Amino acid sequence: MNVHESEKLAGILEQKGYIKGQDVNNADIVVFNTCCIRESAEQKILGNIGAIKPIKKKRKNMIVAVCGCMSQQKDMASNLRAKFPFIDIVFGANNVEFFGEYLDTYLEQKKFLNKVENDKQYLENATGVPFVRDNSLYAYVNIMYGCNNFCTYCIVPYVRGREKSRNPDEIYKEVKTLIDMGYKVITLLGQNVNSYGLDGSTKGVYFADLLENIAKMEGDFELRFMTSHPKDLSDEVIKVMANNDKISKSLHLPVQAGSNKILKAMNRNYTKEMYLNLISKIRDAIPNITLSTDIIVGFPGETDEDYQETVDLLKQIRYHNAFIFMYSKRKGTIAEKMDNQVPLTIKRERIHNLLDIQHQISEELFKNMVGTIQRVLIESFDTKFYQGKSQCGKVVKIENNYKSKIGEFYDILITDYLKGNLIGKVYNGRKEN
Ligand code: 5AD
Ligand code: SF4
Repeated sequence: MNVHESEKLAGILEQKGYIKGQDVNNADIVVFNTCCIRESAEQKILGNIGAIKPIKKKRKNMIVAVCGCMSQQKDMASNLRAKFPFIDIVFGANNVEFFGEYLDTYLEQKKFLNKVENDKQYLENATGVPFVRDNSLYAYVNIMYGCNNFCTYCIVPYVRGREKSRNPDEIYKEVKTLIDMGYKVITLLGQNVNSYGLDGSTKGVYFADLLENIAKMEGDFELRFMTSHPKDLSDEVIKVMANNDKISKSLHLPVQAGSNKILKAMNRNYTKEMYLNLISKIRDAIPNITLSTDIIVGFPGETDEDYQETVDLLKQIRYHNAFIFMYSKRKGTIAEKMDNQVPLTIKRERIHNLLDIQHQISEELFKNMVGTIQRVLIESFDTKFYQGKSQCGKVVKIENNYKSKIGEFYDILITDYLKGNLIGKVYNGRKEN
């Protein structure tokens, strides 16, 4: 989400005549697009803003702006300004579209501008803003903003507000333009894409309809989406995924924890059994699916037994990838006030152990891919090999180069797994859609 919002910020700047800089020491403007999902992200940003101080001292006219979800937190704009008096503009994650106007106001008044507005989501303006996408093959498209789930550890609903779905026709238009421009992988974005339309704003178009209608569009492209909340992933969505070749057969389905006690304390609204049942349903419908997940270790009250249930779940499900985080206390969330916080040493122990276990599972699964045929988008050529990525994001190096073309999908027969990369051969020439 943040990466995509940065593409919007870059678009606004380009429209105003700025060009992308190579060296911050010569910049006319520096924009920090922040994230506050975990404390480590905030620390990193604070360090980076601090590093600008000596540059700003030399370049008095350089404009420093800070935006994103971190600045959206209560009192953060004034706290940031107190800590870093050289910041010129602060605005929130929900009003990125208006950066151009803020910039004009600042240039006119040359006075610190605080434009964090907590009660607004300027969604309707989103479509008019240009994007500057770094990558020419992969494109993100927002389909909804905000989140209603209030998982007890998570700050997102507080900083990004309630769920709001974008108009489906605007989404179709944007996706069609991207396909016509030659983008090959379209990723639909939302904090909880499965509740698309549930706010009643899309005239009865729900996520399954959106997926199906986009998958029917002409062109050689692949459709992905993130993120899905397990409690909302419907049978219809599974069916649409199974029935449409253009929809990626890779699914990110955050489980967060394996213990029902912890899932309840997290307010996830599903049990381990419900999650496992969902996975079975998905695997029955789409046998070649690759799965990934998010896990939090060390949530308040997590005992060794609870943690062991997460370990067991990971071993049972066998995800191709898992993003594993130590629980991080976020201000204003319900879990912040829970009194049974887990000590850092235990969190560290658990994360290292779980990363090792997951690494082993991933290695086994990728080795098992040898002999299978994977759909791969060729991205680049480096002296010897064409290379691309499989649907689940794994790098694939192509041995028989002669037919490959960057930006095209190929069926690749996987011949080896070496040092974290899949090796393969173009199987049957170009895959026809
Ligand atoms: N601490 C640790 N991880 C978190 N996530 C969200 N909030 C926190 C937190 N307070 C993780 C969840 C989510 C992912 C995007 O970030 O696993 O799925
Ligand atoms: Fe945060 Fe839960 Fe919403 Fe995901 S679903 S953004 S973890 S509150």
